[in-house]
Formats: sequence, structure tokens, C-alpha cells
Amino acid sequence: MDYKEVGMSDLTISELSWRLSRIDHHMVRVLAMRVGKGSLSEAVAQAKRSDKKSAVFAIKNPKREEERLAMVETWAKRYGLDPNYAAAVLVGIIAESCKIQAMFMHDHQGDDPSLDLDNPEVVKQYYLDHLLQLTARIAPTYDEQYANDLFGSEAYIQFERGEIAKAIDGLEDTGLALDLGCATGQHALRLGKAFDKVVGYDISPDMLVQAEKAKKAAGANGNVSFNLSDLEFSLPEKDSSVSFVVMSLGTASDIRNLDGLLAEIRRILKPGGRFALSFYNSNSLLAQIGFCPWPVPLAAMVDQDRHCLEVHIGTELFEVYARSYSVAEVRAKLDEQGLSPDKVFTHPTVSSILPDDLFSTELFHDYDEGIKDTRRLGVTTKIHEKPDTTGVKNSLRQLDESLATSPLEQGAYILVIGGK
Ligand SMILES: C[S@@+](CC[C@H](N)C(=O)[O-])C[C@H]1O[C@@H](n2cnc3c(N)ncnc32)[C@H](O)[C@@H]1O
Repeated sequence: MDYKEVGMSDLTISELSWRLSRIDHHMVRVLAMRVGKGSLSEAVAQAKRSDKKSAVFAIKNPKREEERLAMVETWAKRYGLDPNYAAAVLVGIIAESCKIQAMFMHDHQGDDPSLDLDNPEVVKQYYLDHLLQLTARIAPTYDEQYANDLFGSEAYIQFERGEIAKAIDGLEDTGLALDLGCATGQHALRLGKAFDKVVGYDISPDMLVQAEKAKKAAGANGNVSFNLSDLEFSLPEKDSSVSFVVMSLGTASDIRNLDGLLAEIRRILKPGGRFALSFYNSNSLLAQIGFCPWPVPLAAMVDQDRHCLEVHIGTELFEVYARSYSVAEVRAKLDEQGLSPDKVFTHPTVSSILPDDLFSTELFHDYDEGIKDTRRLGVTTKIHEKPDTTGVKNSLRQLDESLATSPLEQGAYILVIGGK
């Protein structure tokens, strides 16, 4: 391929510089997936340790590395890159990967390597510990930062809010509403404007501290309250006493005893009571692709084999229990418990698989100064203005909204609106 063929011959140095910086950014993002914190290299270390059931494992694997180098040289030739150069880059990556694995071994030497992942009770406790650690870590910044700049998750949150607003609009019975897995109470506080009484339940004390703060800051009247409760067991509400139940952002997938919870929702809902429940979709486009070789714009993704949700917070990775379902499974489960869906959406589809740096266009205003800042002081300033990507984001939003009711059912989340 020649640069003229790809339409780059008329570009100015400044236009080319913008393209170069976008490629560089993307390469750094992909490299971070390969050898950064929470990367594939760390996953390899974890897998080797589990395989050997020992804190110590072999880092080097010369045969595999030879194979990998041969593959990269073949691809390099195919795409017009010097194979020696490509091999040299990979040798650097392998060396970094070895370092990551050695650091992992060091950091985990005191852990119990025989953590018995076949023992359901051990696994259950592991996920619960991670959930409480995760929620403690993110609670103070959850409202401002969760899914920040991850346009797939942001798009879903907006979509879900819109559908929940439509679901309660014009409801005749506005008595008691519940927000299950309420976190910082964003939905509960919104529902407080439409219902006489709202109760938010969550297992995380740290989330509930923030929910109380948010309630105070919003000047909400006394009709909204928050309670610590594990939804695996039961819902502390009377039979046929609740008008509306919301469980947003995939939270219905976080509950192991989903059948028990659905039976509880049916018990407490008044006849004609309504619900909005959100799950992770096992047939999503992302699940079908299996693995995207770039970071995708979702804050949380389910590992379907392990029934585990991977939550990325900055460079940290947390693993908590979550199980994804197909639309057919969700329908069957609701049906079994006597709950009737009126509308079933899956969302977002296209926005869930695009690289998360698609819209990041930051440039350093002053190249020399930028470099100096970054290297010497550890800070990056001088961010150039970002070209406006609102139009593109809106087009994607519209596309995903139209796919939300497609029979393909490939959105990352399932949202069911229905009644008893
Ligand atoms: C993905 S967050 C969703 C938060 C909120 N509904 C929203 O839309 O922003 C899931 C929440 O469910 C809570 N949760 C998970 N398992 C739970 C359980 N067994 N009982 C109660 N809350 C639980 C978590 O602590 C967390 O705050």
C-alpha cells in the first residue's frame, strides 16, 4: 500500500501530526492491555499460578515465544513492515511481560496459592470480598466518575434513565417504590419526586454513606430512605405493598438466587405493580465476538465462563459475581414467577465494541513543554482543544437506540419493563 492510495498525500504536517498522535494513543492503550496493570500478562501469571497451585511458576516459555515471534514476522511481511523491526518490538513486549509476571509472583507470594476455586463457598466469599472492596473504592467518586468517558456505558445509563422515566410517567399508583442495589441512590432520589415513599437497598455500607450524602445535598424530603440489605435473602417489605421496583445497570445479574429474588419481587408488588429490571446479556455482540483486541468502552464486562464481572476502575481490576442471561432465559424466568414483560430492550450494541479511544483526541499544545512536563514532573498539561465529536456520538446513540428493539438482541444489557 502506498500513502497516496490511502488519501494522505494532500495532508499538511499538522493534519498528519494529529493522525500520528491518535495512532500513538491507540498503540499505548493496546499495549496497556497487553502488558499494563490488569493486563493479559497479569492474567497469564494468574493462570500459571493456578495451574501449578504454587506461588512459584516458570516465567519464560522459549518455545511459545519463538512461535509468537514467527507469527509476528509473518504478519509484518503481510502488512509491509520490516519483520526484524516487528520482531524487535515483540522481544521488548515479551521482556516487559516477563517483568510483569515476576512482579505478580512477588506481590502474591504470601497469598494462599491453593485458593480452592472448585469450592463454591470459597469462590462466593472471594467475590463478596471484592464487591465490598470495589464499592468502598468507588463509592466516593461513583456519581462523577463511574463510566466516565466510556461512551458505551454512558450511552446505556442515559438510555436506561429515559426508559425508566417513561415507565413511571402517568402511573396511577405512586405509593411505594424500591431501588434494589441502589448504590449512591441516583434512581431512588429521582423516584422520590414521583412516589410517596422510596426505599433504596444495597449490600455496601460505603455506597449507602454516599447515598445519604446525596440525599442531603439534593435537599430531598423525608420520603426517601436507604437500608443495608443483602438481596440474596429476602426483601423486607410486606406482601402486595409496592408500586414500582427498579434494579438498574445490570444489577439483577449480580444476584445468585435470581429466582428467589424474582419470587420476592412478585410477592411484594401490588397487583398491577410495575418493574424495570436490568441484566447482562449473554448473547451480546461483544460476547459473540469473544474478545476485542482493544479496550472497549464499557466499565464492566461479564466473564461468562466464570460468572464473574470484571470491573475496571482506572488501572485497577475487580472481580465480582455476575451472571449473564439471554433474553429468552430472562423471559422464561419472569414467566415462571408470574411477572409479565411489556418491553424488552438490549442496549448498547455498536457502542459496546468500538475502541474506547475512538473519541479521545487530546494533543499537547506545546510539544517540547509537554514532553518536559511528562518526563520530569510526572504531570501532563497543555491539552489542546478536542475536535467536537458530539455529532458522531449522537449518531451512534441513535443507531443503538434503534437496535435496542432489534430481534437480534445483541446489546450488552437487557432492560425489561413490565408488571405483575
Ligand atoms: C452496578 S451497581 C448499580 C448501582 C445503581 N443501581 C446504578 O444504577 O447506578 C450494583 C449495586 O448493587 C449492589 N449489590 C450487589 N449485590 C448485592 C446484593 N446481594 N444485595 C444488595 N445489593 C447488592 C452493589 O453493592 C452495587 O452498589
